[in-house]
Amino acid sequence: MKLWSGRFEKNTDQLVDKLNASISYDQRMYKEDIAGSMAHAAMLGAQGIIPPSEADLIVKTLGEILADVEAGKIEFTEENEDIHMNVEALLTERIGSAGKRVHTARSRNDQVAVDLKMYLRAGIDGMEEKVGTLIAAICDKAEAHTESIMPGYTHLQRAQPSTFAHYIMAYAEMLTRDRSRLADCRARLNQCPLGSGAMGGTTYPIDREATAKALGFDKPTENSIDGVSDRDYVLELMSCLSILMMHLSRFSEEIILWASSEFGFISLDDAYATGSSIMPQKKNPDVAELVRGKTGRVYGDLMGLLTVMKGLPLAYNKDMQEDKEAVFDAMDTVSLCLDVFTPMFATMTVRTDRLRRAASEGFINATDCADYLVKKGMPFRDAYTCVGKLVHYCIENGKTLETLSPDEYRAVSDRFDEGVYQAIDLMNCLHGRMVMGGPAPQMVKNHIAHTRALLKSRETPHQKGERP
Ligand code: ARG
Repeated sequence: MKLWSGRFEKNTDQLVDKLNASISYDQRMYKEDIAGSMAHAAMLGAQGIIPPSEADLIVKTLGEILADVEAGKIEFTEENEDIHMNVEALLTERIGSAGKRVHTARSRNDQVAVDLKMYLRAGIDGMEEKVGTLIAAICDKAEAHTESIMPGYTHLQRAQPSTFAHYIMAYAEMLTRDRSRLADCRARLNQCPLGSGAMGGTTYPIDREATAKALGFDKPTENSIDGVSDRDYVLELMSCLSILMMHLSRFSEEIILWASSEFGFISLDDAYATGSSIMPQKKNPDVAELVRGKTGRVYGDLMGLLTVMKGLPLAYNKDMQEDKEAVFDAMDTVSLCLDVFTPMFATMTVRTDRLRRAASEGFINATDCADYLVKKGMPFRDAYTCVGKLVHYCIENGKTLETLSPDEYRAVSDRFDEGVYQAIDLMNCLHGRMVMGGPAPQMVKNHIAHTRALLKSRETPHQKGERP
């Protein structure tokens, strides 16, 4: 019999139960649901809204239910719809009328909001840690490659000197922003909706400050209608995850390109590559491709819920139950991607010879050559034109700036002398880019140290990933 069967003369159609029930996916919030009920019952007892002895019994029994769930002794039922009613039914089954008091001054509408916030809060902590692990792996690899010169690209055309360290530290920077976006989302989420009731609060003298504090929230939410109808935190989290996946997808795209024979910049460890069923020679970057592919899936989760929410009147509507599968899928997907991407990245071999060859073939010192003339007093635009002519000449004659003779240089400008060879030497070009954020090895080493320090300083207590 349903908890709410009193008003009805018939049972619901079985297909309605199937459509309505969320227990198959919201059971993963059992811990949060039980913690929320414990805090609520304790508060009801402390406020004299229910007998304190019954509050104690509820709290104690909920603890036993939690242990039984974790021991796999409980089977949730579709008849009880969702995790909230399943837990309440279990409680009542065990302690009768005391159990029936737990839902005093509460609705499933504020209950589900508080559960989901707590669940996602813990999920964010775990996600921040995983992103941190990837950032640390990038720093480690970067440290070994601050002198590994390679071309940087614009328009996927060789542009200017970079190093493998400089290049991948760009991703560390993106991921560092992802971490701080997750932290912002967590901070904004951390207001407790419990006490909003169905939408109109309650006439009981509840203590919202107490439950908010007991459940690790900064404060109670300010408006009971918003408290139960707000899903911004779910959308904001999925936005953070979408941006994070966009970063992983770009990184994956680079890895896919780099692993090709055409680039040959890296080779993947066998444990993180796959073969072909027909072509014996193949070693495919499936992990990176799947991360790139799953990015679309995470965007889809975000777009799905944005679309669900866009037309909803206040306050709670059952449509909102659709939030959970979307956000759980997004969290699970990103989490799995990070778990596999990080070791794939950490174990890949960087082929510094191939990087160097690419660096020496693309005129990536052309800007430096122009800067050399500028240092000799020529206006930059004129210098640019001179070097453009030289590059054109090189391409026509199968040469590089390094292999041009002094006479060939002077044919374009008499300001050129032997010093040009120093100026266009790739390692000199690299070491000369001593600007903050630039590829000079010392600058990148500073960036690595700074990134590592940031990672450390972020390990504040709320980031330990404990669930209340
Ligand atoms: N399972 C529901 C959800 O996920 C809980 C809230 C149900 N509230 C209600 N009035 N039917 O949104």
